[in-house]
Amino acid sequence: MEVTVTLTVNGIERTITTDSERPLIDVIREDLQLTGTKEGCGEGRCGACSVLMDGQRVLSCVTAIVQADGKSIRTIESLAQGNTLHQVQEAFLAEGAMQCGYCTTGMIMTAVGLLEANPRPTDEEIIAAMRGNICRCNGYTKILNAIRRAVGRPQEVSAI
Ligand code: FES
Ligand code: FES
Repeated sequence: MEVTVTLTVNGIERTITTDSERPLIDVIREDLQLTGTKEGCGEGRCGACSVLMDGQRVLSCVTAIVQADGKSIRTIESLAQGNTLHQVQEAFLAEGAMQCGYCTTGMIMTAVGLLEANPRPTDEEIIAAMRGNICRCNGYTKILNAIRRAVGRPQEVSAI
């Protein structure tokens, strides 16, 4: 069924007419050309497609566009201000917390959502929040270190 929805994406109001069950990620990537959000599994199992919806991390591959009606969506493109990266982006760079980079957008958006809700998470809280994000390159130690750096306590850890 075709619907018309209005949502705010990275601060810009958008009105979209499309199939009500179309995945949010398709609107983000295809209609809005915001290709920083990546699709991995396409079925809610890897976290690569994570975006923030009203501040909460959602999986955009299993979020129907109709669920985003009236919501505020933020994607990875919203984070940097001009040439200034977000603190989480800076931390991922500083820790080298990416290899192929395919999971990185989802990791960063999930971490940003966590830190906005809880600016000083413990390791256990970080690990719990990131549990739904899979890195096929097995970069978990560096990813944890990056998030720890982003909250102001960089130090080496052996493993998640
Ligand atoms: S692409 Fe959405 S969870 Fe894997
Ligand atoms: S860096 Fe390759 S999947 Fe995480």
